[in-house]
Amino acid sequence: ELISKGNHRHYMIKEIYEQPIVVAQTLRSYLRRIDETLTLPIPDFDLSQIKRVTIVACGTSFYAGMVAKYWFEQFARVPVDLDVASEFRYRAPVIEPGGLALFISQSGETADTLAALRHAREEGQKIAVVVNVPTSSMAREAHLLLPTHAGPEIGVASTKAFTCQLAVLAALAANLARAKGRLSDEDEHSVVKHLAEAPAALNAALAYEDTIKAVATEIAMARDVLYLGRGTNYPLALEGALKLKEISYIHAEGYAAGEMKHGPIALIDETVPVIVIAPSGPLFEKTVSNMQEVQARGGKVVLISDYDGIQEAGAGCLATITMPKVHPLIAPLVYSVPVQLLAYHVAVTKGTDVDQPRNLAKSVTVE
Ligand code: G6P
Repeated sequence: ELISKGNHRHYMIKEIYEQPIVVAQTLRSYLRRIDETLTLPIPDFDLSQIKRVTIVACGTSFYAGMVAKYWFEQFARVPVDLDVASEFRYRAPVIEPGGLALFISQSGETADTLAALRHAREEGQKIAVVVNVPTSSMAREAHLLLPTHAGPEIGVASTKAFTCQLAVLAALAANLARAKGRLSDEDEHSVVKHLAEAPAALNAALAYEDTIKAVATEIAMARDVLYLGRGTNYPLALEGALKLKEISYIHAEGYAAGEMKHGPIALIDETVPVIVIAPSGPLFEKTVSNMQEVQARGGKVVLISDYDGIQEAGAGCLATITMPKVHPLIAPLVYSVPVQLLAYHVAVTKGTDVDQPRNLAKSVTVE
């Protein structure tokens, strides 16, 4: 073990706690605080000419890509296709010239993602790669290399690489928006300012570990858990469910809160905890009304929101987890912390092998 766990019991919790520092480290390459500007590595192609973005990844990196899809479409108004790598390769995707294909990977070696990258390259796409290992195969094959500076990630379930990916993707989305003439200087300053607030907000989120630990003892008894979110918090619901499955072996599903009525609502009873990720903001009321549909059916809700959100909707929940109030742009980074900590403490309560969960590999180099 070349890298030590320090005072921590597992690599995973150490890596969760590293997030304020590694996100700050990552952001340093993508923004300049002094004049509040974005500083992306200069691509050897013209970003303003990009007509379509195809995002491909696996696992947790795929969920970072899903958040990015919301951002690219919202800020840059560029249409985005999104696929898991194993589907992208074999579904005969229509890839038009002039597109940007974006691959996201902690390791840079995931076999399916790498094969998808090579396919997109052959199809004449410009290749951008968000990767944590700068010497990896994907890094070498990119036209535009966008490193995350998370440092080595040992825990099989990805944590700090994910939040660093989000930081890079937010900067890339803003860059693309700027290249497309959709980001004024003032908007750019405000994006930089909000992104720069992420490390402190991640720190503040970590301060709620004890509350989350208490919630985890309840969740550890469940057989099934549902995660709900809207907008960029929908991918976070998927990521929360993935984290819980990976390390605690509890069956969990993430769902778009508004889609719950088309199926999972049938599962709701007092034995299926529902984790609702709902920072206050434009989608808050809608999410809360989905949450109330759960409560009306006897479902037990854990609401993760900020102080205002919890004041407004926290009554009647099994538990609430208060996050710092943050700009919606950085909410996916900040709300990663409680879903990671929840999965971690459930796994610890259950006594599973947190860093080396059964049947999983850190880097999947077979198809
Ligand atoms: C494996 C790991 C996950 C990871 C996924 C994608 O399944 O267990 O934690 O998210 O691979 O890996 P990558 O290195 O491409 O991000």
